[in-house]
Amino acid sequence: VSDLLIEPMRLGDLDEVLAIERVSFTNPWSRQAFVYELRENRVARLWVARAPSGPVAGEPGSIVGYLCLWLIADEVHVTNFAVRPEERHRGIGRRLLVTLLELYRQDGATRAGLEVRVGNQPALRLYEDLGFRRVGLRKGYYFDTGEDALLMEVSLGAAAPWAGPVRSGNPERAPGV
Ligand SMILES: CC(C)(COP(=O)(O)OP(=O)(O)OC[C@H]1O[C@@H](n2cnc3c(N)ncnc32)[C@H](O)[C@@H]1OP(=O)(O)O)[C@@H](O)C(=O)NCCC(=O)NCCS
Repeated sequence: VSDLLIEPMRLGDLDEVLAIERVSFTNPWSRQAFVYELRENRVARLWVARAPSGPVAGEPGSIVGYLCLWLIADEVHVTNFAVRPEERHRGIGRRLLVTLLELYRQDGATRAGLEVRVGNQPALRLYEDLGFRRVGLRKGYYFDTGEDALLMEVSLGAAAPWAGPVRSGNPERAPGV
């Protein structure tokens, strides 16, 4: 995944993003939810990871994952995060998270948080590997299944956990930011 492009999400990306969203979650965000975040929500930052080029030279590659977050004062809160099922276990999720947490860390964010279903092992392992700690439990948070949510947080100080050697290499600054 060394040649992945991480770019701001645009309205034109939504068909591809929604295709991933619908196969990734039992309670997916609607198109309107993404449009609201993109157009109206002033604290929302939405990013896509894209293969570097499509089948036709010069055309953009397909979207392989995305990460949505809110930036409120000096806190990052991850609101949505998924990788296309066929592209999982290749380090794309890790690259998205590390690249964006590092970007906002450099811009002054001091903390990142998220909620995750207690049974979502792939996501939990990734977050814990990146230094997120379990800081709370929200009972019955997911109304579709009644599952509990774990609240996780990581400090984004000078010694962010991924600042040392990480398996997928050093974080890069996202292009165009
Ligand atoms: C959570 C999610 C985004 C992770 O994306 P991903 O691209 O598969 O993540 P990564 O590839 O970086 O890491 C996942 C695993 O692949 C492994 N991996 C990474 N690079 C690898 C490589 N080159 N070869 C083999 N395995 C690799 C990682 O070690 C990790 O293993 P682990 O689960 O045993 O710890 C993805 O599983 C997903 O979309 N899930 C559904 C939606 C979801 O649950 N989102 C999170 C909501 S809180």
